[in-house]
Parts: sequence; C-alpha cells; structure tokens
Amino acid sequence: MTGRPGSLIVVGTGIEAVGHVTLGARGALERADELLYLVPDPLTRAWIESLNPVCESLESLYRPNRDRALIYGAMTARILQGVRAGKRVCAAIYGHPGVFVHAGHEAIRIARVEGHRARMLPAISSEDCLFADLGVDPGLAGCQSYEATNFLMRRRKIDVSVPLILWQVGVIGVFDHSAGQGSKGLEVLAEVLSEQYGAEHQAIVYEASLLGICEPRADRLAIGDLAAVSTSSASTLYVPPSSPAEWDSAVLTRLGIDLAEGARLEAKAADVARSQDIGELR
Ligand SMILES: C[S@@+](CC[C@H](N)C(=O)[O-])C[C@H]1O[C@@H](n2cnc3c(N)ncnc32)[C@H](O)[C@@H]1O
Repeated sequence: MTGRPGSLIVVGTGIEAVGHVTLGARGALERADELLYLVPDPLTRAWIESLNPVCESLESLYRPNRDRALIYGAMTARILQGVRAGKRVCAAIYGHPGVFVHAGHEAIRIARVEGHRARMLPAISSEDCLFADLGVDPGLAGCQSYEATNFLMRRRKIDVSVPLILWQVGVIGVFDHSAGQGSKGLEVLAEVLSEQYGAEHQAIVYEASLLGICEPRADRLAIGDLAAVSTSSASTLYVPPSSPAEWDSAVLTRLGIDLAEGARLEAKAADVARSQDIGELR
C-alpha cells in the first residue's frame, strides 16, 4: 500500500424500501467520502442519493449476457478503487450485504489484506422476511438453506423433517446476467424434490414485498407442478417438512428428558396462551 490507508464499510439496506435500514447503516451512508450502492427499488435509490451526493450506482456493471462471476469481480474492483485512494468508502447492497453477495465479502477480504480497515454491518435479508411472513421459526426444527443451482449441481443431501429454503429459483442453471431461465431449471428441481417429498407435497414460492403497504407473494403449489410456475429474480422457494424427526430415546434417557412431561407442559402453555386470564402466572 502506498499513501494513507482507506476504509471500507459494507452495509445492507434490507428488503423493504428504506424501512429496513438500521441507524448504523444510515450513519455509514451519510459519512462516506464515496458511496457505492446496489439496490433494486427506486425509492431506496432516491433516498440514498438524497443522503450523500457523492454516490454512484453499481448497476451499470450488469451487462446483458455478461457472466455473473465477471460482474462480481468488476464490482469488487470498483469498491476497492476508492479504498486504495485513501477514501472512506461505503458499499450499500440490498438485503443483508453478506448473504449471496460475493463482492461484499471479497472486497472486505482484499481490503484487509492490503492493510485497510474494513467491516460489514448486518442487515435484514429476504430469509428474515420469509421467517416473518410465512411464520417459520428455525428454532423449532432447524433450517436448510441452499442456492438452488448449487443444491442441484452438488446433489445436496436433504432432511425432509427440516424446513428447506431454496434461493435463486428464478435463475437455476443460469450463470450470465440475462432475462431468465426458461422452465428447464424448475423442471429438474421439481423432479429432484419430488423424489424426496412426493410430487403432491406443497411448497411456497415467496417474494417479500418491497413496500410496507403491499402484501408479499406466497403462492402455494404442489412440488410436481413447479415447472409451470412463473418466477422472478426475487423468488425464493420454501418447502415445509413432510414428516417430523425421530426422537433418539437413548439420548433422551442420558439427558434425563421426560417427553410425556414436556408434552403436558406444552399443552398447558397452549391453554394459558388461549385463556383470557393470566392472573396465576403473573
Ligand atoms: C443475489 S441474492 C441476494 C440476497 C440478499 N442479499 C438478501 O439478503 O436477501 C438474490 C436472491 O435473494 C432472494 N430474494 C431477493 N429479494 C427477495 C424478495 N424480495 N423476496 C424473497 N426472496 C428474495 C431470491 O432467492 C433471489 O434470487
């Protein structure tokens, strides 16, 4: 490194326009000497531009038919330009900036190797919105979460007793920035999932709303019908479990856990939740 070190902060703007931005992210957006952003909705773009005039969209790096890996490489290089010039750079990316955002992680890694300060602030991802909108609690049965093409290419093992989230189902097998996938990718996905869950098992094509006043998309369909569904670059597939996991009785005994007592307490808790009077539990 020559000259004074720069700094990099990578922040997320969440999914819902402006409403998901944290106070920490807002401060970083305002203080940056150079602000680079990649957000899909015009409201957030306009808001970012109003916060800091020294800003530039990374959108222009997306070119039709350009390989996505090359686009991410170009983004990383663009983010690092200002850092290498000694500036305080902020890169703002929609959702969580560390979730399916290669350029965010890579720019931080390289900046640190080159002796600059670099960090990422967490933010609300589309998976967080899915948990809220579809009422899924990963604490109950865990959660499996894969990028759809990677899931198919590597024949990932799935556990049908655990909720499954598949990202980027709108661009399965597509590695360049182009219009869409056709139905081939979803056809293959339908086949692979049907082998595990049965073709009749219901799943949900989910799209979180970008505006607080609009409802999310949550289209239920049988897995076997996936090839016919219309998807977009914002579609995520949620597959609920098809059966519960077995208990391990040896482990239950070793831990001294009494399942019958647990079931009794859960039933009592459900009664309490339904009751109008919580007097005795205060
Ligand atoms: C490149 S990843 C970006 C993820 C983003 N950084 C995040 O934190 O959610 C794009 C994928 O995220 C998911 N995604 C993005 N926007 C979404 C939305 N509004 N609703 C549901 N899923 C979304 C989809 O699976 C989409 O193909």
